[in-house]
Amino acid sequence: MDSSRIQDWKQLRSRFPVFQKKTYLNSCSYGALANEVEDSLQRYLDARNDKGADWEYWVGRNEAVRSSVARLIGAEPDEVAITASVSAGINSLASALSFDGPRNKVVITDFEFPTNAQIWYAQELRGARVVRLAEEGGRIPLEKFEEAVDEETLIVATAQVAFRHGAKQDIPAIAEIARRKGALMMVDSYQALGTMPFDVKKAGVDFAVGGMLKYLLGTAGIAFLYARQDLIESLAPTATGWFAQEDIMAMDITRYAPSSTARRFEAGTPPVPNTYMAEAGLAILHEVGLEAIERRIGELTTAIKDAATEAGYSLASPVDPAHHAAMISLRSSDDNRLVAGLAEDNIVVSCRNDNLRISPHFYNNEADIEHLFRALHRRRDLLV
Ligand SMILES: Cc1ncc(COP(=O)(O)O)c(C=O)c1O
Repeated sequence: MDSSRIQDWKQLRSRFPVFQKKTYLNSCSYGALANEVEDSLQRYLDARNDKGADWEYWVGRNEAVRSSVARLIGAEPDEVAITASVSAGINSLASALSFDGPRNKVVITDFEFPTNAQIWYAQELRGARVVRLAEEGGRIPLEKFEEAVDEETLIVATAQVAFRHGAKQDIPAIAEIARRKGALMMVDSYQALGTMPFDVKKAGVDFAVGGMLKYLLGTAGIAFLYARQDLIESLAPTATGWFAQEDIMAMDITRYAPSSTARRFEAGTPPVPNTYMAEAGLAILHEVGLEAIERRIGELTTAIKDAATEAGYSLASPVDPAHHAAMISLRSSDDNRLVAGLAEDNIVVSCRNDNLRISPHFYNNEADIEHLFRALHRRRDLLV
């Protein structure tokens, strides 16, 4: 990525029609739809009408997404499985782990999105023991990982960025603890990807998951699992399907022969329409550049924190920019009412657990934030 790239943010914003109607600050939930992502779906529909079934081209789109994700996270395409959801990727990974040996402990935290807790708790039916580290003042102290990860730990599975308030974890430091204690490390990067550079090799993680709906500008129903090359062949997922086999077209009904690549974590027919949209969304991120995006989001989150502090609103996110990502959350006494009220002013935001989540992307600007805060000041009784 070219860190010196100067972007024309106004021109980029004009490619997202939603801004003609809404003040859209909800990328932690759903990314805004770009013209080229919309067009890509039409291309899929046109291809079906023009050609009928174009299987080769469809499979090619899935491979294009695989390569694009690999480029985004600094991996090889063979280390990336394209899945229908983050949940599907974690389930496939969990199904390949054995909890019968001396290592059966799974370490998670209070920062997890429910799916990355529920799936590991489900493994308790297979002998796993889940330990959840408690949040303390908006952080999970590294010492907690140091204490909890031990010779009985099989895997540490934790979020890079918390979905409730945007707090960011030090993933390389957590991965180092896991490695030192002989445990595996999986990061759920869904709330981070697309907002900052992230290199799985530099971070030292064994597995990473993320999806295309939010800051990656694609759509729902498509996600990925990264698995470190040296580990792939030692893992045999029992959650599987024909697209996970070494030779998909062998149509072999006599045995299980998983692919030698991360494709072994896949299952059935790829989410074809979604691959078109994901490919188009990822292309925008590569075009703009992750360093430039991170800088722009940094300017916008600073503006949000400054406006909140000036008004005396209570931040649920860490103030230090080193400890939060693209989402800034404000504490609310009735977050659902606040989101509904802001919607009446054409402002799209979301909430979780008494927090109003404000999540800009590179396409937002200072005027969006001013508009939001004017509306918040009118509803200050719902803020604490
Ligand atoms: C951090 C995080 N992980 C996982 C998910 C869910 O992923 P999926 O619905 O693709 O399983 C979300 C949000 O939808 C999320 O924010």
